[in-house]
Amino acid sequence: MKCAPLSRRLPPLPGALPKNDADQKPKRHTKRLQNRHLNEIWFPGQSDYANDVGMTKSLLILNGPNLNLLGTRQPEVYGTTTLPMIEALCADHAKAMGIKVAFAQSNIEGAMVDALHAARGVHDGVILNAGAYTHTSIALMDAIFSTELPTIELHLSNVHAREEFRHHSYIAKAAVGIICGFGAAGYTLAMTAMCDYLGASA
Ligand code: DQA
Repeated sequence: MKCAPLSRRLPPLPGALPKNDADQKPKRHTKRLQNRHLNEIWFPGQSDYANDVGMTKSLLILNGPNLNLLGTRQPEVYGTTTLPMIEALCADHAKAMGIKVAFAQSNIEGAMVDALHAARGVHDGVILNAGAYTHTSIALMDAIFSTELPTIELHLSNVHAREEFRHHSYIAKAAVGIICGFGAAGYTLAMTAMCDYLGASA
């Protein structure tokens, strides 16, 4: 099954790093996100905009440790866009593309492994910002290999222009591709890239 035609999939890129996002208000999830810390993993829900027959691709966007603090965490590096804002941007992008998108975030490595396992048979692809686990986690790499779900490694910052310990990625060994350095806009770029990947291989 194919994704929506390209003309429907390319709204203006939102969330450029790091300026001009103060006016982008989170449209949903905000209240429940305040209780995010109560859970090992946060599933704010799924946006299902696949209303056309045959356009049922579903993506999981999984964020790792400390990304729940986006907006206030080192804004000079990661920008001022919050995670609820990013999720709202991605939900809008999913609507434009005619696909489904679901979101999850955890600070706990094992909970992220569980989320990847749970994605099997539910989602068609994963966009993964594993945060610092990118550079350390053989378990997450193995989980991606185990689920056999196409996965895009994502980072807001350009990790290759930063400290040397950020240059190595276990996720990259299992990923179909990598997007980094474009701030919050990287999430919607990754969605478009995954949609093209899935369309080409379907
Ligand atoms: C990050 C880069 C990682 O090196 C860092 O540990 C993060 C965020 C990024 O999105 O730029 O937590 O994944």
